[in-house]
Amino acid sequence: MARLDGKVALITGAASGIGRAAARLFAVEGAIVVGTDIQFIDDDVWRDDCGTESLFVHQDVTDEAQWTAVVARAAAHGGGLDILLNCAGINGAAGGDPPPQEPDVIGLDIWRQVNRVNAEGTLLGCRAAIPLLREGRGGAIVNISSIAAQKGWPVRTAYGASKAVVLQYTRTVARHCAESGWNIRCNAVLPGPIDTPMINPPKGKPLAGGDGRAGADHVPMKRYGDAMEVARPMLFLASDEARYITGVGLNVDGGIAALTVD
Ligand SMILES: NC(=O)c1ccc[n+]([C@@H]2O[C@H](COP(=O)([O-])OP(=O)(O)OC[C@H]3O[C@@H](n4cnc5c(N)ncnc54)[C@H](O)[C@@H]3O)[C@@H](O)[C@H]2O)c1
Repeated sequence: MARLDGKVALITGAASGIGRAAARLFAVEGAIVVGTDIQFIDDDVWRDDCGTESLFVHQDVTDEAQWTAVVARAAAHGGGLDILLNCAGINGAAGGDPPPQEPDVIGLDIWRQVNRVNAEGTLLGCRAAIPLLREGRGGAIVNISSIAAQKGWPVRTAYGASKAVVLQYTRTVARHCAESGWNIRCNAVLPGPIDTPMINPPKGKPLAGGDGRAGADHVPMKRYGDAMEVARPMLFLASDEARYITGVGLNVDGGIAALTVD
């Protein structure tokens, strides 16, 4: 028996990177996957990747009204909802000439944009999904925070703050659901540098070298992670194997959290 047999998983940010890897993995593990993203994916490409039972829906996670429609559509498609992965995110550095983010110069526009997608998008997702998870068989939410929530990182001022919100909000959701007697767990992963389009954008300055090692000197394991290395811990947290785990932030960072000095 696969680890997610009979489960319906809604995954945001599913067109790329970690969300895409999770969509593939969850499908292999038996879930009916409903993926969403602000980018479009061809239906055939999506179903080739994530199985004929899967569905792709276009969604902007910052749009409150879309969330109501998306969770309803996912539940209608799969016959309920068991898992929410909030993977959609931005770091404010995309494009050829990203605005500076250091604390003394950052503009409110980039601060708000990054926090809207990462923090508010996660809030809206949990808020929309909890009633469905509560009504059904119970469920699991996995949010993506970041090692940036735990370290000062001047060139990503807004990003670090938004991911700290995600981590703190995850704990609050976990406690609220547990103390309310709902069978809903909520956990977060805190990835370190993962070689995805966020770090190696099609346009703009890449942070990671092509071999996954260049520029990774600050990582104790001396390499960048790959998307599947984050998707697998997300699978564990979403599955019944983690049924007594809620409110944790799991570092998936090649050992960065173990560093006492930068
Ligand atoms: N790559 C890393 O090093 C790293 C490290 C820590 C945390 N993370 C987090 O992991 C998550 C996935 O990032 P990734 O590395 O796979 O990057 P990615 O850019 O490959 O994927 C992010 C996805 O989110 C989507 N997205 C962006 N804004 C959206 C919106 N408003 N509505 C819906 N979808 C939207 C993008 O289209 C994209 O498909 C993000 O939350 C990111 O902050 C990444």
